[in-house]
Amino acid sequence: MLYEIIKLVIETLVIYFPAMAANGAPVLLVKGVPIDRGAIFIDGRRLLGDGKTIEGSLLFLIVGGAVGSIYSAYTHSVFYHIYGLLSGLGAWLGDIIGAFIKRRLGIERGAPAPILDQTLFLVLASLIIKISGIETPLGLNIDLKIYLCGVSIALILHIAANYGAYLLRLKKVPY
Ligand code: CTP
Ligand code: MG
Repeated sequence: MLYEIIKLVIETLVIYFPAMAANGAPVLLVKGVPIDRGAIFIDGRRLLGDGKTIEGSLLFLIVGGAVGSIYSAYTHSVFYHIYGLLSGLGAWLGDIIGAFIKRRLGIERGAPAPILDQTLFLVLASLIIKISGIETPLGLNIDLKIYLCGVSIALILHIAANYGAYLLRLKKVPY
């Protein structure tokens, strides 16, 4: 049982590491040009908001692609360059769709949308990988088990990162 769980977690990390690294990287950006250039949607709110920038979008692809390149270096299979890029692209799409939904719900840029913030990027990354038919690391199939394990890991990392930032006094509250 324990062996099965450890195996699932490792497989999930191998599958989603490119998407997770891509999704986390833009936080390091201080500033960028908003993708929506300040555009307002018909509901009077920002289309996406200042949290989705062109520079941040490039980072999704660069970091996803970079992790894919590491996979390729280890496996001598060129496919993982593309696997990493597609993971970054999917994560980016999910992040953008998430911001669009948050703005329509009246949730301000940067305000948390628990679950949505941690799941949508993995849904879209999984979809893009599946639709493309690209070879997956270790030939693993992204099934519901791997997806749910990925979401759990994303939630735990999210909570841990916020708590870490609180301990480092970068945030005032631990959530
Ligand atoms: N970021 C970016 N471009 C992106 C995604 C993220 O520049 N495409 C940067 C922004 O500085 C953003 C930070 O990474 O504030 C954290 O990302 P995220 O949590 O996704 O954005 P939020 O600020 O929470 O904005 P939103 O509410 O729209 O999700
Ligand atoms: Mg956020």
